[in-house]
Amino acid sequence: MNRIGVLTSGGDAPGMNAAVRAVVRFGIEAGLEVYGIHRGFEGLIDGEIHEMNRRSVGDILQRGGTILKTARSERFLTEEGQRRAVENLDTFGIEALIIIGGNGSFLGAEALRKRGVTVMAIPGTIDNDLAYTERTIGFDTAVNTVLDAITRIRDTSSAHERNTVIEVMGRECGDIALYAGLAGGAECVLVPEVPYSIPEISRKILEGMNNGKMQSILIKAEGVDIDTEELCRELSERIGREVKSVKLSYLQRGGSPTLADRLLATECAEKAIELLVSDIGNKAIGLLGGEIVGLDLTEALEVPRSFDRELYRAIDVLSK
Ligand code: F6P
Repeated sequence: MNRIGVLTSGGDAPGMNAAVRAVVRFGIEAGLEVYGIHRGFEGLIDGEIHEMNRRSVGDILQRGGTILKTARSERFLTEEGQRRAVENLDTFGIEALIIIGGNGSFLGAEALRKRGVTVMAIPGTIDNDLAYTERTIGFDTAVNTVLDAITRIRDTSSAHERNTVIEVMGRECGDIALYAGLAGGAECVLVPEVPYSIPEISRKILEGMNNGKMQSILIKAEGVDIDTEELCRELSERIGREVKSVKLSYLQRGGSPTLADRLLATECAEKAIELLVSDIGNKAIGLLGGEIVGLDLTEALEVPRSFDRELYRAIDVLSK
């Protein structure tokens, strides 16, 4: 193994830069040439490939986003797109490709593997929706950003004795909502994994009010099948008070990565390089029982997602 490539793909996540930095520097230390591919699979199709050196990744450890840029590539879903991607890897003499991204990017990695490319997948997404790993890079930072927002919104909700629904990201996964809701003391958390009932939520708010709790914070994951404004309208009607909404949206994706995300990113990258120089490829790197491991990529993608229902129930008990 002489030459490897690295790309970031899908939604950016805080800690992606820390992973790129570690791939480049551990890679060079191990005697590899490291090439950066810009704009994810889009750039791979278009041949936007440049050699990187230790200095190319200077001063990025603390930055959110990704210096390699990222994209959601429709073209990579096509036969022609994948063929061109493989061709460009061959043209540049790249023998293995490290892909940093979420679910969709891992499927992209798997598609390349099926075409004979040696790949290594590193979990970078705020959603925490890759089941084989206990945590994805970016999740910790995103949850802490949501927590900060909850704290601020609680101040004003409390001052006005208001009820506020905060919509958070996560696609089909409720983990951001679950962890931020638990740590932020939310009265109610709606996630795609658990059915909700508007009468029950309304009753909880009204019971709270009867006990002197005049404000509440409800966290709603974006994957829940009701529009946030509609939810606020329906709750307002039932409780007879206005319910405000706040959509945190892309705020959750930016910002300087936390210690946990910088560490996870660095250790995953180190593992990816260690495996590649031992001529081991096609692994999904992740965190399992506190250890950084490399699992077979195809098997990792088959691990069913689970949701921590005990933690979810605790929110209800704690917020009464
Ligand atoms: O996958 C990360 C994520 O931020 C999801 O939580 C969200 O649903 C999605 O990306 C938004 O994607 P886009 O950046 O394409 O709007």
